[in-house]
Amino acid sequence: MLAPSIDRPSSMTAQPALLAVRDLTVDYGGVRAVGGITLHVGRGEIVGLIGPNGAGKSSALNAISGDVPASGGTVVLNGRDVTRLAAYRRSRLGLGRTFQTAKVFEGLTVYEGLVTAVRGASGASLWQTIIGRGRRLEEEQAGERAWRMLDQAGLDHIADLFGRELSGGQRRFVDLTLALIKEPQMLVLDEPMVGVAPSLVPRLLNQLRSVAAQGTGILIVEHALEVVAALCDRVVVMAAGQVIAQGTYDEIAADTEVRRAYLS
Ligand SMILES: Nc1ncnc2c1ncn2[C@@H]1O[C@H](COP(=O)(O)OP(=O)(O)O)[C@@H](O)[C@H]1O
Ligand SMILES: [Mg+2]
Repeated sequence: MLAPSIDRPSSMTAQPALLAVRDLTVDYGGVRAVGGITLHVGRGEIVGLIGPNGAGKSSALNAISGDVPASGGTVVLNGRDVTRLAAYRRSRLGLGRTFQTAKVFEGLTVYEGLVTAVRGASGASLWQTIIGRGRRLEEEQAGERAWRMLDQAGLDHIADLFGRELSGGQRRFVDLTLALIKEPQMLVLDEPMVGVAPSLVPRLLNQLRSVAAQGTGILIVEHALEVVAALCDRVVVMAAGQVIAQGTYDEIAADTEVRRAYLS
């Protein structure tokens, strides 16, 4: 087994980790799904979280984002302990996420959904809406921003489709675009490639790489190991609620305990 917490020497070690998770546990009733995991993600770093079904990966992401409560341990974002904060407050502090089942606005078009998200992301909009000042300008800016995001994501051709009309892969792209609108410093992604046509996977990977290149940290759960190998700077392996290894892809691929967890 690899030593679980060897910090990679890098130019970033002088800074505290963007995301630092320590001894995190998640219980559902009496069942322990996550049994005390420790991991970190640095600025601009892409970390893969892998492991067999039921390992506790989604539960760990949910506890990191605040969508399920942690039963123990700490989640520190940018040096601030957010373990007890609600998901929306973590989101405001720069933590973005997508879900294993992509969330989109079912009854709005893609464009309308993005405009709504842009407005939600700009804190002043409610007050400005109430007093009416600058409202027109805000609307125009929100619309422009939404178009720019659609264009960057290559989604302009589906702008007028309703959320409920989207294919699985389109939902993934829209879900990710909605998360990116808030310009998260830290992005947590649960199997974002599921349902995405193989021909579009490289585009999604490039989008994630460019987000990371701008300094956003990414923690991604992904089943396809070739995607993990191509995308991730570092990989954390979970099995039965524990971190059993972490390192580069080549290091964990050579690890006998990792092989055993995948084969059993
Ligand atoms: N909402 C829940 N209520 C009860 N048990 C759950 C719930 N979500 C997950 N579990 C259980 O927790 C364990 C870890 O699940 P999960 O975090 O979804 O793993 P993974 O994402 O690695 O497949 C599994 O045994 C699963 O059955
Ligand atoms: Mg899962």
